Amino acid sequence: MDKSCTRELSRYHTLGEETFYFAGHNISIRESMDTFGALVWPGAVALCQFLENNQQQVKLMDKAVLEIGAGTGLLSVVASLLGARVTATDLPDILPNLSFNLQRNTKGRSLYTPQVAALSWGQDLQRDFPLPSNRFDYLLAADVVYPHDRLEDLLKTMQYFCRPGSGTTLLWANKIRFESDVSFTECFQKRFNAKLLAQLPQQEVWIYNATARE
Ligand SMILES: C[S@@+](CC[C@H](N)C(=O)[O-])C[C@H]1O[C@@H](n2cnc3c(N)ncnc32)[C@H](O)[C@@H]1O
Repeated sequence: MDKSCTRELSRYHTLGEETFYFAGHNISIRESMDTFGALVWPGAVALCQFLENNQQQVKLMDKAVLEIGAGTGLLSVVASLLGARVTATDLPDILPNLSFNLQRNTKGRSLYTPQVAALSWGQDLQRDFPLPSNRFDYLLAADVVYPHDRLEDLLKTMQYFCRPGSGTTLLWANKIRFESDVSFTECFQKRFNAKLLAQLPQQEVWIYNATARE
């Protein structure tokens, strides 16, 4: 066998592991190297830190929480450990590793077992998440904005769950890296009542709180 191929393959498939400490627990996140959803991104870490430090401001206990673009699941794990009833969503390919990380870090530790579901931004929302039964207190999104061609679908998804009268609060954390991230933020501010909650200059991460414009 060609050794260079073997080396390439094993590097591609090697699973990384990252550990964190939030909400009184060590959290181990299994990563993989092949997709955007395979690493823990800075927005997730920043929002976990924010939720842990601001539990009086964002009370997650017994609250219904939906995460979109959950990736490796760190943020959903922390929301679960803080007492929320979490549904973590992402593209179908991402779900096996997401489920693995949620299960290993919340089993026997969280009040509610987190759920995992496929949610592709802007696709079949009415079919898969019919209203009004799918109402969430919080919608979480971390580092879902980077140069990709689904930004309008992402905004529509945010608006679908965070709609007038729903009482849903959107918490969105993102590393602002590109011009397109700034333009998305401007659109976001036009479509929602948005408030900048925190700006972390070292990490270049901004955290927004948003509700529907009535
Ligand atoms: C940069 S990663 C962030 C992952 C995680 N939130 C974090 O901060 O660690 C972006 C996530 O969005 C998901 N994503 C990308 N396009 C999507 C789409 N069209 N519908 C749903 N999720 C999508 C990716 O699979 C990935 O998990």
